[in-house]
Amino acid sequence: MTFHQKDVDVLISEEKLHARIKELGAAITRDYQGKELTLVCVLKGSVFFATDLARAIDLPLTLEFLGVSSYQGGTESTGEVRITTDVSKPMAGKHLLVIEDIIDTGLTMSFLMENLAARHPASLKLCSLLEKPARARTQVNIDYKGFVIDDHFVVGYGLDYGEKYRNINFIGVWKGK
Ligand code: IMP
Ligand code: MG
Repeated sequence: MTFHQKDVDVLISEEKLHARIKELGAAITRDYQGKELTLVCVLKGSVFFATDLARAIDLPLTLEFLGVSSYQGGTESTGEVRITTDVSKPMAGKHLLVIEDIIDTGLTMSFLMENLAARHPASLKLCSLLEKPARARTQVNIDYKGFVIDDHFVVGYGLDYGEKYRNINFIGVWKGK
């Protein structure tokens, strides 16, 4: 019995995640040929995804980390977004690919993309592992998308509920409520 078996049902298996990440990595490798790519990993949820994706991209690249907070805990976005940890270098002139775990209402990412665009990167694109279109409150263009999911609260592979469950190897529906 694993620690999460009681609270989490498998939605996307480890095998499916890794197969899709390989495809995303191949597409990104093709699209960024000859360019120097900077992956901007959004803390903390996309760390697991970003490290696997980075290894599926066959290009020289650098990693940056950016922390945002849109939740005060719980499962609902408050709509208030803050940068809690900023990137370590100026982003001007760089080819930025933002790596996110999930686009839910879209409020976090529309704030973040605007914020990064204002730093004058050479290019700015978004890669999100998951999209939950049922809850969208603003339009966010996802350049590379892993999976579209129904309106479930999901955990695992970086995604948390109350900071827990990030260390599960698959994406699962949290049914603890
Ligand atoms: P948004 O601003 O509503 O799009 O929310 C984006 C952030 O909320 C994501 O980066 C996640 O950290 C968190 N989030 C949204 N939906 C879920 C979910 O189903 N499980 C875990 N975290 C989620
Ligand atoms: Mg997040």
